[in-house]
Amino acid sequence: MVFNKAGEKKNVANSSILMYNYNWFMICINPGILEERFVKSKRFVSVLFDLLQQLLETEDMTDALSGTLEMLIRVLNCEAGAVWLLARESDFLLPVVSAGPVNFTNISTENGVGVEGLVTRDGTTSLISDATSADYPGSVFDDCGPTVRNMLCVPLRNLTEVVGCIQIVNRKDAGGFDAEEVQLCERVAALAALTIEEKGFSVSAGAKKDVLISLRGIIKEFPSGEGVLRVLKGIDLDIYKNEFVIILGESGCGKSTLVNIIGGMDHLTDGTLTIDGKDFSHPTEKELTRFRREYMGFVFQQYNLMPNLTAQENVQFIADLVKEPMPAEEAIAKVGLTERANNYPSMLSGGQQQRVSIARAIVKNPKIIFADEPTAALDYQTSIEVLEVFEQIVQTRGSTVVMITHNPEIARMANRVVKLRNGVVSSIRINLHPAQAKELVW
Ligand SMILES: Nc1ncnc2c1ncn2[C@@H]1O[C@H](COP(=O)(O)OP(=O)(O)O)[C@@H](O)[C@H]1O
Ligand SMILES: [Mg+2]
Repeated sequence: MVFNKAGEKKNVANSSILMYNYNWFMICINPGILEERFVKSKRFVSVLFDLLQQLLETEDMTDALSGTLEMLIRVLNCEAGAVWLLARESDFLLPVVSAGPVNFTNISTENGVGVEGLVTRDGTTSLISDATSADYPGSVFDDCGPTVRNMLCVPLRNLTEVVGCIQIVNRKDAGGFDAEEVQLCERVAALAALTIEEKGFSVSAGAKKDVLISLRGIIKEFPSGEGVLRVLKGIDLDIYKNEFVIILGESGCGKSTLVNIIGGMDHLTDGTLTIDGKDFSHPTEKELTRFRREYMGFVFQQYNLMPNLTAQENVQFIADLVKEPMPAEEAIAKVGLTERANNYPSMLSGGQQQRVSIARAIVKNPKIIFADEPTAALDYQTSIEVLEVFEQIVQTRGSTVVMITHNPEIARMANRVVKLRNGVVSSIRINLHPAQAKELVW
C-alpha cells in the first residue's frame, strides 16, 4: 500500500504525520465512496491515495498544494483554481498557489468577503452553479481570472479550525459538480489542511491596520414611486488608517451613495457607522456639519471652484472654516501649483483646476479624503498627474483616501479594491505591492 511504502522512507517524526493522516484518510473514505457501483468512486479513491502520497513525501508545502490543486482541476475537468490561506495577524487570505489563466501576483483578499472569504470564515462549502445569478457573492477571481461561470470552493479544515480554502472554477464540460465530486474536494481539502497543520505551514501579510471607519449592515433606501428603492443592501466594510481604498463597480450600483453616507453627506436607512470608535449612525445635523468640516475632505468630478477667487483664495476660503488648517500656500505647493497660485480658475486647465480642488481638500488636514470619479473629466496624462497627488497624500501625510472610479486600471494603485455588486461588497482585493500612478496605462 502507498502508506506503507511512504512510511518506510520516513523518519520517526514523519511517520507520526503518516499515521495521523492515515487515520484521517480512513475516516475520509467512507464506505459510500468505495461502493463498486460508482465507477467514478474508484477513480476518486486512487486520487486520494495519490494525494496522500504527495502530501506525505513533500518537503515543500507549496509544491504539495500546487500538486493537489492541479490534480483536482484535472480530475474535475476545470479551467482554473486557487488555494487560499489565512494570514492570521491581518485576517487576509493569500493565494498560495493558483492554476489556469489567472493573475494573482501581489494580491490578497479579506476574510469574510466574497466566496473565498465566506467559505473560510464560515467553514462551509460553496457550490456556485451559475455565477451570473443574484445570490453569487462575488470573488477576487472575477477581477483576476477568466469570467466565472461556476465554482466549487471548499474549506481547508483541520481538526480544530479553518485555515483557508481550495477553489476550482469553470467546469469545462456541461454538467455541474455532483454531490460525490463535492465530497471528493472536501476530503482532499481535509487532507491538505491536516498536512498544513502538521508541517506548521503558514503565510503572512503583515500586521493588521487600525480601523478608522467601520460599516456594518449599512442599508440605504430612496423613495421610489409608491415604494422604496433599496440601493445598499447590507454593506460590511472597514476602512483603515493611512490606506488608499478604491471603490469599483458598475454605473448605478451605489458607489456614490455609499461614499455620501461614509462622508456624512447623507443619512443611512439602517445599520451602524462608526468613526474613530464613535457611533455615527444617526448624527444630528450639527454633528454632521462639524464632522464633515473637521474630518473629511472631498474631491468630485466637477471642480466646484469659485470663479471670482484665485487658486490660492479658493483654498484659503476653505482653510478659514476649520480650526487647524495647513497654510494655504503649503496646500497649493503640495499639488504642484505654486506658480499658478494667483491664477483664476478660468486661466487653469482641467487638471490644474482639479489639483486646486485637491488642495482645498487637504488644506483642512482631514483624516480622510473622499474622491468621487476625480479623473473622469480628464485626459490620460492629466489623470496620471492628479493620481500622483493622491498617491503623495497617502504616502507622505499618512491620510486615508477613498476613491471611486470605474476604471479598473486605476485600481492597481490602491492598497485595497472594494467591489460593489447588487448593493453589497462582492470582493475586496488587497494589492500587496500597489502600482505607482505613473505605471498605469489605459
Ligand atoms: N437621491 C436619490 N434619490 C433617488 N434615487 C437615488 C438617489 N441617489 C441615487 N439614487 C439611485 O441609487 C442608485 C445608485 O446611485 P449611485 O450611488 O449614484 O451609483 P454609482 O455612483 O455607483 O453610479 C441609482 O439607481 C440611482 O438612481
Ligand atoms: Mg457615482
